[in-house]
Formats: sequence, structure tokens, C-alpha cells
Amino acid sequence: MSKLGRVVASLPIPPVLRDRVDAQFDCFAPDRHLRTDDVLALADQHQPDGLLVSLGMPIRAEHIARLPGSVKVIATTSVGYDHIDVAAANARGISVCNTPDVLTDATADTHMLLLLGAARRAKEHVRNMDGGWNIRNGFFQGLGVDVAGKTIGIVGMGRIGRAVADRARGFRMPILYHNRTRLSPDLEGDARYFATLEDMLPHCQVLSLNLPGGQGVLMTAERFALLPQGAIFVNSARGSLVDEDALLEALKSGQVGAAGLDVFQKEPAYDTRLNDLENTFLLPHIGSATVETRTAMLELAIEGIAEVLAGRAPSNVVRL
Ligand code: DGY
Repeated sequence: MSKLGRVVASLPIPPVLRDRVDAQFDCFAPDRHLRTDDVLALADQHQPDGLLVSLGMPIRAEHIARLPGSVKVIATTSVGYDHIDVAAANARGISVCNTPDVLTDATADTHMLLLLGAARRAKEHVRNMDGGWNIRNGFFQGLGVDVAGKTIGIVGMGRIGRAVADRARGFRMPILYHNRTRLSPDLEGDARYFATLEDMLPHCQVLSLNLPGGQGVLMTAERFALLPQGAIFVNSARGSLVDEDALLEALKSGQVGAAGLDVFQKEPAYDTRLNDLENTFLLPHIGSATVETRTAMLELAIEGIAEVLAGRAPSNVVRL
């Protein structure tokens, strides 16, 4: 089989996929994650048809402008594409592909881990075990709050939001949601739709962010204040959706009882004041981090490149 073209990758290709990639492309893949400028330099050197990139590599309009004319497709190994200026890419005739669907379950599972970790004060209990179980909690000490039966408000009822709802049903949680558009009855099921976030917030004992980033700050001080006192806040979507100073204040005052966060305004240099608080449970953006899911994501991104280079429209091409 003749190869489809040249690809420059910003991340290593794992052995399990290397043969497949080599069969389809001449692929220049590094042994560590590269920064945008390094990838641009490699692109200049190799004049690739495709770029394979990851979430940590911003590709803004100024980077797109510096890409060689050979580039026809950029595939990111993430469902989120807020790190890529898709409009600027498309304006240069470059398609952008992402990895929808394949990470839905893993991300929704992480979301429940965040919710449970925050509700049950997992951080302080894990720290206690790390320290040799030096703190002996009395019967009424170190207590969290129940998750079962709490009302959850889901912002963003796409694939991941709906997978979170499915899991929340297992915890007998009444489900509210806010979305740009109301879901069809078969997708909505027993969930209650709110056309405005402001109307939904006062009913959310748990507030769950499951919408794409790249749309500015959604959770401001004013909106945190609309939650019931002590609500649990969970975000596995994007840190850019949250005013972190406002969240810190709300956590300190108890307006937000606990927060489970996998994503931050700045990654990895996140605001460590969030971790200094007792009532947070933080993870380092591991939403999709399982062997099966990361393999499937990389496969889908590679498939997107192959489809574009074969002259077909991949199912995972980003359409604005
Ligand atoms: C994505 O793919 O956008 C997720 O944030 C990865 O965990």
C-alpha cells in the first residue's frame, strides 16, 4: 500500500500503534511531548501533509499562519479543540479533526470520581493514609455528605453530560440540565430542562460542568452565589469556564461546600491555593486517561488524518 503522506506529531506514538502509523504515513514522532514552536520547526523541516497534536499544544492564528502550505489536516488527540483556532485553519484550507465519543465513558467516570472525592473529603483521608494514619477520626469527625439522592444540575448535555446523567441516575439523583437547545424527549428522559442557567442554579445541590471550553467564563461570583449554600461543584470540562478567584472565595465562605476539579485556568501551573483548601478534590486533567480510551483517541485522530489525506471527509472533522 502506498503511503498517504507525511505526518509530524507533537507527541510520542505508543508501540501498540506504531506499525499502523508507519504503514500509512511517513511519521516524524518525538520521544516526548513537544511545544508549539518545536512542532512548527519540524513542520518547516519535513513539509508534512498532516499534524498530530495534543491538548497541551496551542495552535493559534499566528501559528497557523506559519505552517507550510503542505499541511492539509491537523488532528488533535482530544475531544476539546479550544486550543486550536479552527476558523484560521479552515481559512487556509486545513481541516481539523478531534476525538468525540471514544472518551465519553472514561470522562464521565472521572467526573463521578471528582464528585465522590469532593463529597467524601477524599483528599484529607488520603493525606491521612499517606502520613501513616496518624489522625484517628472520631465517630463524628472527617464526615462528608451523601451523594445519593442529591439533585444534580448538568450544564452541557452533550455526550459527556448525558453519560454523567446516566451515572447519576444510578445514585438516584434527580437530574436538571441547561443546554443551548433542549434535548429530544428520548435523550432527555427524566431530566428537567432549564432554558437559563440562572433559573437552574438555585436548585442544584451538585453543579456539573460538561460543556466545551472556548466560550468565556461561565461560573462567576454572581452565579456561584445563586447555588444553594454548600452545593458541590464539579468540573471536568475546562478551567477557562470558571472564575477561579470567585470559586476560591465561594469555597472559603462555604457557599460552595466542596469542589471536584480535573481542569484549571492554567495547566499545569494551576492555582495551588485551590489545593490548600480542605474542601477540594483535585486531579491533573486525567478525564480520558485510561489505556483503552487514550488508545482509541489516538487511533481516531490518526484515522481523521488518513481520511482527509485520502480525499474523504472524516466523521470526526470539526465543523464550526
Ligand atoms: C479532551 O479530550 O478534551 C479532554 O479534556 C481530555 O481529558
